[in-house]
Amino acid sequence: MTDPREQLARDLETARARTLLLTDHDEPELLRQHTPLLSPLVWDLAHVAQQEDLWLLRRGDARRPGLLPPAVEALYDAFTQPRAVRARLPLLPPVEARAFGREVRGRVLDRLERLGRDDDGDPFDFAMVVSHEQQHDETMLQALAIRTGPPLLGAGTPLPPGRPGVAGTSVLVPGGPFVLGVDAADEPFSLDNERPAHVVDLPAFRIGRVPVTNAEYAAFVADGGYDTPRWWSGRGWAHRQEAGLQRPQYWSPDGTLRTRFGVLEEIPGDEPVQHVTFFEAEAYAAWAGARLPTEAEWEKAATWDPATGRRRRWPWGDTDPTPALVNLDGTALRPAPVGAYPAGASAYGAEQVVGDVWEWTSSGFEPWPGFTPMLYADYSAPFFGGDYKVLRGGAWSVASSILRPGFRNWDHPVRRQVFSGFRLAWDA
Ligand SMILES: [Fe+2]
Repeated sequence: MTDPREQLARDLETARARTLLLTDHDEPELLRQHTPLLSPLVWDLAHVAQQEDLWLLRRGDARRPGLLPPAVEALYDAFTQPRAVRARLPLLPPVEARAFGREVRGRVLDRLERLGRDDDGDPFDFAMVVSHEQQHDETMLQALAIRTGPPLLGAGTPLPPGRPGVAGTSVLVPGGPFVLGVDAADEPFSLDNERPAHVVDLPAFRIGRVPVTNAEYAAFVADGGYDTPRWWSGRGWAHRQEAGLQRPQYWSPDGTLRTRFGVLEEIPGDEPVQHVTFFEAEAYAAWAGARLPTEAEWEKAATWDPATGRRRRWPWGDTDPTPALVNLDGTALRPAPVGAYPAGASAYGAEQVVGDVWEWTSSGFEPWPGFTPMLYADYSAPFFGGDYKVLRGGAWSVASSILRPGFRNWDHPVRRQVFSGFRLAWDA
C-alpha cells in the first residue's frame, strides 16, 4: 500500500502544476477580471498559498502570524473580500504571489515529511488543502471560459467518440434502501458534507442513462421553451425575464455556434449541454415531461450495487479513474459526447455520472444527519439551508484526486458560469 504521505506529496504537486499552468500568462492578463462573479487569476494564485499557510502551517489558527503581513493576508480572505471587489485590491504582483506560494509549499512538504513521526497532524488536512487548490483551479477555468480574446489554452486533449442511440434513453432504479454518503473509515479524504454514511430508502425511479445533450436542448429552444412560462417555475421565469436568458451561455443567437475558451465552433449535438442555470434545467425537464433527480436518487443510481448490496467507490467499481473510464482532470476543456464511456457505467447502467458536466439536482444543500465540521469549519456549514441547489458528479474540469461520487457541490440556482448540465429523472 502506498504511503499516504507520498500520495499527498504527489497530489500537492499535481495541484500546483495545474495552478501554475492556468496562471502562466502575462501580468495584465492575470490582473483582468472577466466578471464580478469570479476573481482575477492573480487573486487565486496567492489565495491558495494563503489558505495552505493557514490550514497547514498554522493549523487553522488565524491568530498565529503567517508568512504574509496581516494587512496583505486580509486581502485574500474569501469571506470579507467579495469577488466583485478583488480586482481593485492592492494584490501581490504575480512574481511575488508565486514566490509566496513556493515558500509556503516548501515548509508544508517539510511538515508532510515529519507526519506520523514528530508531527501528530492529520493527513486529511493536507488532502483538504489539495481539494481547495484544485477547486480554485476549476474556478480559474470558469474565468478563462468567460474571457474574451484569442485562445490561451489551446484546443484541449482528444476524447473517445460517443455511441449513437443513448441520448434520451433512461435506466430503472428499483425501490429500496441504499447507503447515502460515506464514512472516514472508507473514504478518509471525503469532505465533511459527504459524511456520515446512512441508509436511505427510495421509491423506484427512472433516470437518464446520460446527461441531456446540446441537440436535445436545442429542440427545447427551437420549440419556444424560453418564451413559454408554463415550463418554468415562478422564480425561474422571473429570472429568465430579468436576466434576458434565451439560450445557454456561449451559444450564438441562431443556436448553431458557441465560443469555447476563445474558440468558435459548431455546437456539438451529442455533447452534454453546459452552462445552464438550475432554472433552465428545471424548465427543460418540465418541457420533456420529466423532472430533475434528487441528490439521493442521483447518488443511488451512481454508486449502489444491488447484486452485492454495497456501495461502489466509483460508478464502475472500486478501481481508480482512468481516461478510458471517465473525463476528468481538466485537459479536454469540454465534456465527452454521450456514450463515450460504456465501461464507466454504474450497476444500474447510468453512464457519465462522474465527469463531463456537473449535474443539477432538485435538492437544496443540507447536512446529512450526524454532520460534523472539518478543520475548515466554514467550508460547508455557513451554506446549509441557503439559496443553493446541489450539483453532482464533477465536470471534465475537476481533478480526479479530489473527486468521489459522494462529492457535493452547490451553487445559486441562477449561476451558469459553472460547467453545469443535468440529466432527467421520472417516477417509476
Ligand atoms: Fe478558497
